[in-house]
Amino acid sequence: MTGLRGKVLKATLFQAPAPGDIEAVDDALITIDDDGVIAALSKPGDAVYDQTLASARETHRLIETGQHQYVLPGFVDLHIHAPQFPQLGKALDVPLEVWLQTYTFPLEARYSDAGYARAVYERLVDTLLANGTTTAVYFGTTHLEATTILADICLEKGQRALIGKVAMDDPDQCPDYYRDADAASALSGTRQFIEAVQAMPGNEKRLVRPVITPRFIPSCTHALLEGLGELTRETSCHVQTHCSESDWEHGFVLERYGKTDSQALDDLGLLTRHTVLAHSNFITTDDMGLIKERGAGIAHCPLSNVYFSNAVFPLRRALEKGLRIGLGTDIAGGPSASLLDSCRSAISSSRLLEDGVNPRLAVGDRGVEQSRIDFRHAFYIATSGGGDVLDLPIGRLERGYQFDAVLIDLKAPSSAITCLSSNEESLDDTLQKIVMNATRTNIRTTWIAGEVTHSLPLP
Ligand code: GUN
Ligand code: FE
Repeated sequence: MTGLRGKVLKATLFQAPAPGDIEAVDDALITIDDDGVIAALSKPGDAVYDQTLASARETHRLIETGQHQYVLPGFVDLHIHAPQFPQLGKALDVPLEVWLQTYTFPLEARYSDAGYARAVYERLVDTLLANGTTTAVYFGTTHLEATTILADICLEKGQRALIGKVAMDDPDQCPDYYRDADAASALSGTRQFIEAVQAMPGNEKRLVRPVITPRFIPSCTHALLEGLGELTRETSCHVQTHCSESDWEHGFVLERYGKTDSQALDDLGLLTRHTVLAHSNFITTDDMGLIKERGAGIAHCPLSNVYFSNAVFPLRRALEKGLRIGLGTDIAGGPSASLLDSCRSAISSSRLLEDGVNPRLAVGDRGVEQSRIDFRHAFYIATSGGGDVLDLPIGRLERGYQFDAVLIDLKAPSSAITCLSSNEESLDDTLQKIVMNATRTNIRTTWIAGEVTHSLPLP
């Protein structure tokens, strides 16, 4: 498939306008402007459809997808630890607080080596693009140089990215070999990173954006958290952090501040419309109200939660309350770099929450009723939910949105999707199969702002 700037794409598309709601359009015409923004979406039967089709044909701007191919919005991964990519799939045997000290901080400390950073980050961004992740929200490390390299690589490869230099300065929780020297240097490093990203040549359209990134409350001194709150007010940048993730972490913050993560972050000026709260498993009903009022978003990380969280996030309840929620892999707390895998985890976790897991308990005592979600909600949080959390025009295939999309090929070589040659399935079932079974082999093309950023060779 080619780049689509200035072209008209004729395709069958799927998108999720609202939680639980799927729009499937056969033979849609998507007109993409020279900047990669969707100028028009027209459906068969629309007044302008025939004329749009004829004129695109005449001017040789029409691009058509093949049989058994579908266009979906690209995936928005709201929570990735870029430096943890080398430990993807391992080191999952201990609780969060031990995992950080034993495996993760020693690994992240290695990014003082710019060469190591470049090698890992090149590989990571290629992998995510192959998996259809068109927008990635990254934690880097405390290192300015390595995190700037990640920003350079995303820009070079054309991935939409929000990136934070991690701030962590508390000597009680962070080892001497891996922490900011003090609050002042963590703050000035964050400021330098923001300025560096904003000044990157070629980043005039802000494909890559800086994020203020206190790792989580336990790893930051109060002075640093206050300073980052002020910087947030001053710059209006996005903010990302971990929130009420595990029993230990939630309890630590309660002990230190006498309040929950959400309340403490709010008092510090870190809970804004552009804040991404990773996990948030233990948020209270009041926290949900506060998060909603501030318009902050949640990165649901279901696979990582299996290993580190001691609980299942009440996704259905939070969606019903109208909170803004997207999906995260949490590489490498979650041992998969595929947001489609996260969709599957979100669905299965919600079923376990609803039914409960202890067979010794009576049916009525085992779970939390009405907690399940299905492929529709999972697809929503992986695409438009994530776009909504970030407050960016992404995650949907509508006029005014960026053309960030993937081409799914059901008949790709080694596809795990059962697809008969006649494909007599309903569109709803086809999407369900894609969400449940597609892998990177089915992702033939990944476009960001209309440009090809990944493409599988034709068989
Ligand atoms: N809390 C603080 N740091 C981390 C991290 O790297 N991963 C996860 N899952 N939780 C954290
Ligand atoms: Fe995380």
